[in-house]
Amino acid sequence: MHLLEKVQLGNLELQNAMAMAPMTRSRANQAGEVSDLTRLYYEQRSSAGLLITEGINISEDAIGSPFTPGIYTDTQIAAWQKVTQAVHAKGGKIFAQLWHTGRVGHSIDKNGKLPFAPSAIGIEGQQHFTTQGAKPYETPQALSTEQVKQTIEDYRQAAVNAKLAGFDGVELHAAFGYLPNQFLVDGANQRTDEYGGSIENRCRFVLEVMQALVTVFGENGVGIKLSPSIPYNGMLDTNPTALFSYLIEQLNQLPLAYIQLMNALFPLDNLPHYPKDVLGTFGKLSKHVIMANGGYDQESGEQVLKSGMAKLISYGVLFLANPDLPKRFELNAPLNQPDRATMYGGAEKGYTDYPFLSNN
Ligand SMILES: Cc1cc2nc3c(=O)[nH]c(=O)nc-3n(C[C@H](O)[C@H](O)[C@H](O)COP(=O)(O)O)c2cc1C
Repeated sequence: MHLLEKVQLGNLELQNAMAMAPMTRSRANQAGEVSDLTRLYYEQRSSAGLLITEGINISEDAIGSPFTPGIYTDTQIAAWQKVTQAVHAKGGKIFAQLWHTGRVGHSIDKNGKLPFAPSAIGIEGQQHFTTQGAKPYETPQALSTEQVKQTIEDYRQAAVNAKLAGFDGVELHAAFGYLPNQFLVDGANQRTDEYGGSIENRCRFVLEVMQALVTVFGENGVGIKLSPSIPYNGMLDTNPTALFSYLIEQLNQLPLAYIQLMNALFPLDNLPHYPKDVLGTFGKLSKHVIMANGGYDQESGEQVLKSGMAKLISYGVLFLANPDLPKRFELNAPLNQPDRATMYGGAEKGYTDYPFLSNN
């Protein structure tokens, strides 16, 4: 296996083993619609084997940050349709990342409403970036059992909408401290209904959402992103190894396209019970295609493919700054450097103006 070799992902033939990792770019309008600039951004990167979009809000309640896109209104769906058409016209494949931020939001940008979460436990020691600057996190509202079930339905409807918009599949964002991740860990989920308590109960939300997504996209049209060893956004758990091992074993029962596993990108000195080797600890438990993510370059990506620990590698910042990343790897060409100041918000600068090799 090599980065530049074709990969069969269910019935999708990918041009290479390089995925573009999902990246929020905060360039949608107030109504959560993406623009022609976003169409161009993804079209420019369609030589990736698989594009995964930025996190897309599944409902109004799901919104955590301003200028992030949605997929719950007709105009939002129509805007995404232009993106998928442009990518497909270039021979690319594209999955929509379905996002609910849960408690990682702020009432300032939610029409005064507190964010929803599994339990009324706020994030401590971090601030949230709002339209009025950085603010301490608030205590969220706990979802009722009925609201949990409605949220699962919102995910299913978002998948239906993603299908209408022409996506090849969907990925559940269950990583980095957002709602599904909040259900998983006992530091954020202290519910007493069937969605809290034991590991089995804390995994129920993610598994029911995944089942709902599979009913829409069928076999091999659904992926999931997990970050078992990332404590960011207050993702503290007393036994992450047991938790994520159980989850991955349960996911084996579903016909999934892939599991995207994020490496432990944060220091774990104070959390010695968090596994440092995510691929080695959890990847081997899965019967699904593993997409490895986090900190890879060409050489380390090739090494992981060669080791057999993963079949796909996803690149975030390298794809952000290099629209023709596969070509650059092929030619061993120098890479553009990512500009951190233009990652979130703004217009074409730092979005669609990174040069292609031929334009240099
Ligand atoms: C600007 C930016 C926005 C991101 N937004 C998301 C997101 O919406 N969803 C997600 O799952 N990960 C998001 N990530 C994380 C990336 O998908 C990826 O996991 C991370 O960048 C590590 O991969 P890399 O080292 O190849 O960049 C974001 C990363 C960056 C740099």
